[in-house]
Amino acid sequence: MDNLSKVLNETLQATLPSIGKGQVANYIPALANINPNQLGVAIADLDGKVFKAGDADIPFSIQSISKLFTLIQAMKIYGEAIWKGVRRDPSGLRFNSLVQLESEHGIPRNPFINAGALKICDQLESRCSTPNFQLLSLLKELSHNNSIKVNHRVAISEIKHGARNAAMAYLMKAFDNFENSVEKVLESYAHHCAIEMSCVDLARATLPLANKGKTLTGKALITTKQCKRINALLVTCGLYDEAGEFAFRVGLPGKSGVGGGIVAIYPGKFSLCVWSPELNKTGNSLAGFELLERLTGALEISIF
Ligand code: DON
Repeated sequence: MDNLSKVLNETLQATLPSIGKGQVANYIPALANINPNQLGVAIADLDGKVFKAGDADIPFSIQSISKLFTLIQAMKIYGEAIWKGVRRDPSGLRFNSLVQLESEHGIPRNPFINAGALKICDQLESRCSTPNFQLLSLLKELSHNNSIKVNHRVAISEIKHGARNAAMAYLMKAFDNFENSVEKVLESYAHHCAIEMSCVDLARATLPLANKGKTLTGKALITTKQCKRINALLVTCGLYDEAGEFAFRVGLPGKSGVGGGIVAIYPGKFSLCVWSPELNKTGNSLAGFELLERLTGALEISIF
């Protein structure tokens, strides 16, 4: 690991020319004005060390990366019962597609597409007194950063322009697969997506997934079995209809967000996060994806 900082800097430099080739997310208007010229990467290892390069300390909108943490919360509360309302298979479709949900009777394919994450939020709403506060507290604890907060302007912008998510939630309700008020859950979901964290925060927060579910102090965040299952879902569904391509080119479990972040797990070794706001056509960070491909290539790491 001695040369990790050097490799991070080299791969970041090699990736900089890709900035300008993608498009920042603009279907949530409050995300559209971000400076696209940013690229950061951070690694948190099991010895408690953090390695970073570029814009690794700048907080960004975690968006769908929040789905990983709401899944962790729901698995802790519900155990196996969580799978009653959501499946565990890749959808092969865009993260906010509606077509499958109708033909599959309101049961989302997996917890990482929007419909599945909304169902997970519905479950949290049923059992948590303050779901948003509880998620924020978990993220602060895992990343050792008490200043993590929600960007309310982004949350409100998403609620105002969230017709597709509303359609998914109402469709699930029509199929009797949604317990709570649609508006309430949409509001909660939008607030989760609008949390802002840096690459360093997210690398630290995902470290238990590289450590069989335990934090560095040995506390079990989730069980070893749950950790295995979440990593399996990250491989098969974490990058939506680009999950196969990500496994092929990067070779690690990963989760992306339209804020331009991607977290990845190297089990038994470290967790990492890259961020660059411009997205490719699938809605995943263009430069972030490329940086991860270069980095895993240079370090010769993969789960395969
Ligand atoms: O619900 C949405 O569409 C966004 N708040 C999150 C989507 C997202 O991040 C998909 N990731 N690549």
